[in-house]
Amino acid sequence: MTDRIAEHYANDGIAERILSAVTATLAPGTPLTAELLAAADQLHGRGLDATKELAALLDPKAGEHILDIGSGVGGPARWIASKFNCHVTGIDLTAAFCEAADELNRATALTDRVSIVHGSATSLPFADRTFDRAYSHNVIMNISDKSAFYREARRVLKPGGVLALLNLIAGSVGRPHYPAPWAASSATSFLATFEETRADLLAEGFEIIEIEDTTERSRGVRRAHAQRLEAGTAPVLGAHLVMGPRMKELQLNVIRSEEEGSIGSMQALVRRPL
Ligand SMILES: C[S@@+](CC[C@H](N)C(=O)[O-])C[C@H]1O[C@@H](n2cnc3c(N)ncnc32)[C@H](O)[C@@H]1O
Repeated sequence: MTDRIAEHYANDGIAERILSAVTATLAPGTPLTAELLAAADQLHGRGLDATKELAALLDPKAGEHILDIGSGVGGPARWIASKFNCHVTGIDLTAAFCEAADELNRATALTDRVSIVHGSATSLPFADRTFDRAYSHNVIMNISDKSAFYREARRVLKPGGVLALLNLIAGSVGRPHYPAPWAASSATSFLATFEETRADLLAEGFEIIEIEDTTERSRGVRRAHAQRLEAGTAPVLGAHLVMGPRMKELQLNVIRSEEEGSIGSMQALVRRPL
C-alpha cells in the first residue's frame, strides 16, 4: 500500500525544475531563500497562504524543535524554520521528495535548521517526547491507519506539545474524482469526515484546542485557481513544478470534487495533555 502511495508522488528532476523556474524569475546572483522557493515548493491547495495559516495555528517559538509529518519536498518546513528561527525535522514516505527536499535545503543554506528523514508517519523513528510541536499538512488522506498516525504523533510530542493539522476531509455528497493530487485512485485515498477526525483525535488522547471546517473559506480561492488553470493563465511557479505536467488534471479534479461536495477541508490544533 505505502509503495503505491510513494509511486503516485515520485517523479524525476523535482529540485532542478523548481530551482530553474524560480531562478528564472530573479535578478542574476539573487540568493535563494525559503520565501522565494515558497511559490513553487508547497504541495497543497492555496500554497504559501495555507502554510501561513497552519504556522499561525502552530505558533512556533525560536529555538524549538518542530516535526513536519509528511513533509513533501520540504517547502513548509523551510518556510517555518526560517520565519520562526526554529529547527524543523520533516519525515516523508516518498524517497524522491526527501532527495529533492535535501537539495532545496542546500540551495537555501538551511541544512542546519531543516533535517529530512525518509520514513512513515505510522512508525516514526524518533524517541518519545522529542518534539515541542508538530504539524501535518494534507497527509492524513493517505493514511489508512489513523490511530497509528495520531498515536505516533502524540508519542513523539513532549507533554503539553501541540499538533496542528490542515487537510482535506470527506464531504457529504457523491464521490471524489481521481486521479487527485494525493491519490491516483480511491485505493490509496482514505478521506475521513470532520466528525471522524475529531473522534480519532480524542480516541488517541489529544485535547482539542480548536477545530474548524474550512471548506467554505477556501472555496473561492480554489475556484479562482480553476479558472486560471482552464484559461491557461496559472502562475509559472506552483505545485505543478513538484508533480510535473499531470498536476493540471489533478488540481481540476480536486476543485471539481470540492464544488460538488464530495470533499472539504479542515484545520485543527490539538494538545498532548501534560
Ligand atoms: C499532498 S503531499 C503534502 C506535502 C507537504 N505536507 C506540503 O504541504 O507541501 C502529501 C505528502 O504525504 C506523504 N505521505 C503519504 N503517506 C505518508 C506516510 N505514511 N508517512 C509519511 N509521509 C507520507 C507523501 O509522500 C507526500 O509527500
